[in-house]
Amino acid sequence: MTTVAKDGVTAPKLIIEGLSKRYGAVTALEPTHLTVPTGEFLTLLGPSGSGKTTLLQMVCGLVEPTSGRILIDGRDQTQTPVHQRDIGLVFQHYALFPHLTVAENIEFPLRMRALSAAQVKQRVKDALAMVQLDHLAARFPRELSGGQQQRVALARSFVYQPSIILMDEPLGALDKKLREHMQIEIKQLHRETGATIIYVTHDQEEALALSDRICLMNHARIEQLGSPQEIYARPATAFAADFIGISNIFRGQVDTASTGEIRLSTPHGKFRLPAGATCSGAEAAIVVRPEQISLGGDKGNTVVGRVADAVYAGSETRLIVDLDEGETVIVRLPPGQPAPAYGERATLGWNPDAAVLVP
Ligand SMILES: Nc1ncnc2c1ncn2[C@@H]1O[C@H](COP(=O)(O)OP(=O)(O)OP(=O)(O)O)[C@@H](O)[C@H]1O
Ligand SMILES: [Mg+2]
Repeated sequence: MTTVAKDGVTAPKLIIEGLSKRYGAVTALEPTHLTVPTGEFLTLLGPSGSGKTTLLQMVCGLVEPTSGRILIDGRDQTQTPVHQRDIGLVFQHYALFPHLTVAENIEFPLRMRALSAAQVKQRVKDALAMVQLDHLAARFPRELSGGQQQRVALARSFVYQPSIILMDEPLGALDKKLREHMQIEIKQLHRETGATIIYVTHDQEEALALSDRICLMNHARIEQLGSPQEIYARPATAFAADFIGISNIFRGQVDTASTGEIRLSTPHGKFRLPAGATCSGAEAAIVVRPEQISLGGDKGNTVVGRVADAVYAGSETRLIVDLDEGETVIVRLPPGQPAPAYGERATLGWNPDAAVLVP
């Protein structure tokens, strides 16, 4: 499954070089470079139309690239047909074979492989158990709900143990509880099989929960690539900050003091910036996460407003404050801290070093 290079370092499973796709005047993917190490769980996250499915379908060979190369285990596979790429697929609307039962659908990818009848039986049994469909093994796809069909497709992609598995919103049709259960199952399967997984989702919480790295996409290009922790703590752009986690974003003009220190001049006042912050443009924004803001004005930067809501969520209270100048700030209060009531005035503060400056 893994390729070990001469120097003993594991070679990347997948390398994408300058891969792009155009449909007439529409650019579905700008020329893109991406390296995926063997065994990584990489999530493509981004809004609708950002190019996630296009990228995935070029990797598996369903869509022909306009430019660029795809290397799997160091070999150029740009022209290799789909069925020769050793890639498992689970797509948003992936068709099951209507004339085969659930068990037969799952068994199908194993037919071409040299396995004993007993091994096939065991693998199908395990796969059925994994997606909790043991009791429906004899049914036909038309007798299943959309979510159940999706689970069969998931089981079928894992059953023959390919070295790369591509999943395009595989849990989209499931309810929240089953979705969370399947997330844990997928993570466990990833750990057990060591497969390289490229997973597409709109759902940032799912991306944070599952991924080794997140590839955040926007307007047909990669906006930011990094671990969930990196992107959350150091978003590269206001878009990244807004898309992953909850953010308070303050925009303003960059203002250089006589001492050389830069500040951000906003409708809410002049904010101090993280130590050593530099900025090339005349305008910028700071991102402050809800947990970095606290009640009281003694932290270095202060805003004032009126409490619009206090939402109790067990492990935290989320305070929504409408600022006097018209923006809304979200604050996460730790458990046990009393929240001011609706309509009360609130002064909020944060340490300048807790914010991130973005262009
Ligand atoms: N066959 C096609 N012909 C023309 N345009 C296409 C085609 N396939 C995709 N596109 C366009 O390419 C862009 C990227 O589409 P893609 O399906 O990759 O987005 P996505 O990120 O997967 O979105 P979603 O989250 O909605 O599934 C979109 O603007 C889409 O309309
Ligand atoms: Mg898509």
